[in-house]
Amino acid sequence: MSHGRSSLDRREFLRLTAVTVAAGTIGPTFAGCDDGGDEETLEGIGPASSAADIARVFPQGVASGDPKPNSVILWTRVELSGDAPVDYEIATDQAFTDPIIVGSLTSSDDADHTLRVKPTELEPGTTYYYRFRADGVTTEWGRTRTAPTADDAAEVTFAFASCQDFNGRYYHAWHALVERDDVDFVMFLGDYIYETGNDPRFQDGTAERKVDIPEGISLDEEGIAKAALTLGDYRSLYKQYGSDKDLQEARRRFPFINIWDDHEFADDSWQDHSTHFNGAMHDQGDEKDTDRKTASNRAFFEYQPIDVEHDKTKKYPDDIRIYRTLRFGKHVELFMTDQRSYRDDHLISEHETNDDTGKVEMDTALGSRQLLKKIGFDALEAEAKPTLLGADQKAWFIDKVNGSDATWKFWGNEVMHGQLAIDLSDVEALPESFKGDFYLTVDQWDGFRSERAEVLAAIKDAGNVVVLTGDLHANYANELQLDFDAPGDPVAVEFVTAGISSRSFEEIIGRIVENSDLLSALGLAPVVAEMDDRIRARDPHVKYVKNKAYGLGWVKVSEGSLDVRFIEIDDVTTTTYSGSSGEVKFTVASGSNRIELA
Ligand SMILES: [Fe+2]
Repeated sequence: MSHGRSSLDRREFLRLTAVTVAAGTIGPTFAGCDDGGDEETLEGIGPASSAADIARVFPQGVASGDPKPNSVILWTRVELSGDAPVDYEIATDQAFTDPIIVGSLTSSDDADHTLRVKPTELEPGTTYYYRFRADGVTTEWGRTRTAPTADDAAEVTFAFASCQDFNGRYYHAWHALVERDDVDFVMFLGDYIYETGNDPRFQDGTAERKVDIPEGISLDEEGIAKAALTLGDYRSLYKQYGSDKDLQEARRRFPFINIWDDHEFADDSWQDHSTHFNGAMHDQGDEKDTDRKTASNRAFFEYQPIDVEHDKTKKYPDDIRIYRTLRFGKHVELFMTDQRSYRDDHLISEHETNDDTGKVEMDTALGSRQLLKKIGFDALEAEAKPTLLGADQKAWFIDKVNGSDATWKFWGNEVMHGQLAIDLSDVEALPESFKGDFYLTVDQWDGFRSERAEVLAAIKDAGNVVVLTGDLHANYANELQLDFDAPGDPVAVEFVTAGISSRSFEEIIGRIVENSDLLSALGLAPVVAEMDDRIRARDPHVKYVKNKAYGLGWVKVSEGSLDVRFIEIDDVTTTTYSGSSGEVKFTVASGSNRIELA
């Protein structure tokens, strides 16, 4: 809403204003609701309290999410017990000189004192400020921005990010984004929390940055490595991750659009199954735990400003559906998918050996989810045709993309779409049967190649499909092919962002080799350092690769072209931010499906 609006227009607008709240509420008050007399002045909730008081009462700060032309979700959490009143106000200026909505909510134990409110008659493409007050303490302002309407040719700028492991690591990438202050929203592609603490494969907690999991499952005999199990565990992780000041500053300034990946529930999970024990724990089956998945879904809903329905009386898969679309003006539509809740199990069981994929040991991820012989896996996959999206979501997705008239269609995609194989035929120590191409991980789309080709073929004519991906902890720019082994003209592009902080892909592969007597003996350690070159050499669809990277992605969208950048951070283990280490820039011309390194 512009400041120059006449008071009549303003009253008209405010009369139309409505609010939906998903928590107990006393109800909002709108300025100027009475048409008769002078415009009513709303009683505001006062300036921000001291930082110490805010941290005590609002330890996870404030946030907003899922902006639409007329609505946005506003979120906070209070550290108060029982039913506590929480007031809020919304204004178009940072000083709240003229609040347009004030209201009151009630926090409860039931939602772990998280609160959400959805004003539903806001103005499109408009910046709003909001704040909350509880127990005599007022938060800092939060800022959000509604989406432009579908006919508005406005430029749209946004960040995309994923993977913010807290253990021993810092969120300098969020600091860099706050410093730039140049995006309309942030698309978060999953691994907002990690369900584990001290997982030896990739986590090293420090005295200052470690997580506490109150109940949990022990992942080792010493009980050092643990994974979240209960609702209390998952809530506790969101609280600890949410305590980070850089993350709080990013959430305070930009609306977020969140989907989950595996770690919001469990590493390399599928449906309500985890894979922590790689088939070794038969008393736990293949680690199916519907209550655990349901608990993780509930905590995600409570702690994210997501505009979907959640039914806490139901269990997975009937509790929540997070796949959805969001529209930002003429040029941008987002298609946010859920690639964990409906997917099939990994094709090769952890609890078997398999000559075709090179799986030589029982009860391991190697040869099941990681490092599989491509030729053997491809034959098995072509027969089984496992699904990653699930039938319903796949039909929904294809329909939505083809029905969109947005110039650019952005697919919020959790796991890497482009093929990621490495040729090991020149590694001398490898036995003959191991010489050839290997997939690095089939937890991503390489494990679902039939469906990948089917979906891409079904949406390619929609044009200007841009796949945005997290999960891998590496930067990639890919031109996507219907058949990566028989490349033709590319049909879409993909940008994979490095993690905000999580251990890089190169380091994770390094640890897999280091921790495996077999792989070390086969002489694979030197190959890890050559990964970027080997991938580039084998896979021409990979236009850019950096497997040791941290940071986030940035996109500016206009009618004719796309400007995409990887904002890079060198070190995420130092406590202090020393600046972004630079940007890698790309452009994509409309209609080209080609990536140019700018
Ligand atoms: Fe991750």
